[in-house]
Amino acid sequence: MANIQIDPRLLSAASFVRAGAVFADIGTDHGYLPVFLLSEGRIKFAFLSDVNEGPLEKASENIRRAGLREKCELLLADGAASLAGRGVTDYAICGMGGELIADIIARAPHLAEPCVRLILQPMSRQEHLRRALYRLGFFILGESYSVADGKRYVCMCVGFSGTPCEISDSLAYLGPDILHTDDRDAYLAYLVAKRESIARAAAARSEAGLDDGSEKIIALFDGRIKQYL
Ligand SMILES: C[S@@+](CC[C@H](N)C(=O)[O-])C[C@H]1O[C@@H](n2cnc3c(N)ncnc32)[C@H](O)[C@@H]1O
Repeated sequence: MANIQIDPRLLSAASFVRAGAVFADIGTDHGYLPVFLLSEGRIKFAFLSDVNEGPLEKASENIRRAGLREKCELLLADGAASLAGRGVTDYAICGMGGELIADIIARAPHLAEPCVRLILQPMSRQEHLRRALYRLGFFILGESYSVADGKRYVCMCVGFSGTPCEISDSLAYLGPDILHTDDRDAYLAYLVAKRESIARAAAARSEAGLDDGSEKIIALFDGRIKQYL
C-alpha cells in the first residue's frame, strides 16, 4: 500500500475525524483525505463524493494505487443529500467557499443529528458559515488553524444541538476564543492574516467611495489580537 502524505490543511481536518468513523468526503476531488484516513486505519469505510466526474476519476486512481477499493465507494452527487440513510458518522466538506459549504449543509437535513460530526474547512466567508451553522441548530465544538504553502487556513469541528440561535459578530468573525489551547500561536497568525485581508478589501471599497462598516469588524480583530499577543 502506498504511503500517503497530506498537507497541514488536510491534516487539521483529519485530526477531527473520529476513530472508527464511517466517513464521507463531500467535494473529494483527488480523494487525499479519505485515502489518508483509510491508509492509516483510522476509519472503517469512506464515501468519496463529488459533483464533477473529473475529480472522481482522480480519486478513483488514488484509491486503486493505495489498494483501498474494498473500503470505499465513489459517488457522483451534488452535496451531501444523497448520503441520507447510509450510516455516515463523520462528514468532511473542505476546500470550498463558506457560502457553498453552508448551502450544502442546509440542503441535507439528515446532517442535523447529534451523532453526526461535520468537519468543515471554508476557504472564504467563514463568518457566513458560522452564522448559518448556528441558525440551523449546529454549534462549533472546536477549530484548528494551519498553514500550507504560506497560506493560513481554519478548520471547524461541528456538532448538532438542535437549538437554532443568532451569534455575535465576535463569534462569527473570530471563531471561538481558544486562548488556553495549544493552537494559540497558529490562531493569532490566522487572525492577523484575516484582519489584513478584511482591511485591504475595506480600503479598496473606501477608495471607491463605499463604506460597508468594516471598521467595526476590524476593531473586533484588533481587540482579540491584543488579547493574544
Ligand atoms: C477545491 S476542491 C477541494 C478538494 C478537497 N476537498 C480539498 O479540500 O483538498 C473542491 C471540490 O468540490 C467539488 N464540488 C463543488 N461543489 C460541489 C457540490 N455542490 N457537491 C459536491 N462537490 C462539489 C468540486 O468538483 C471540487 O472537486
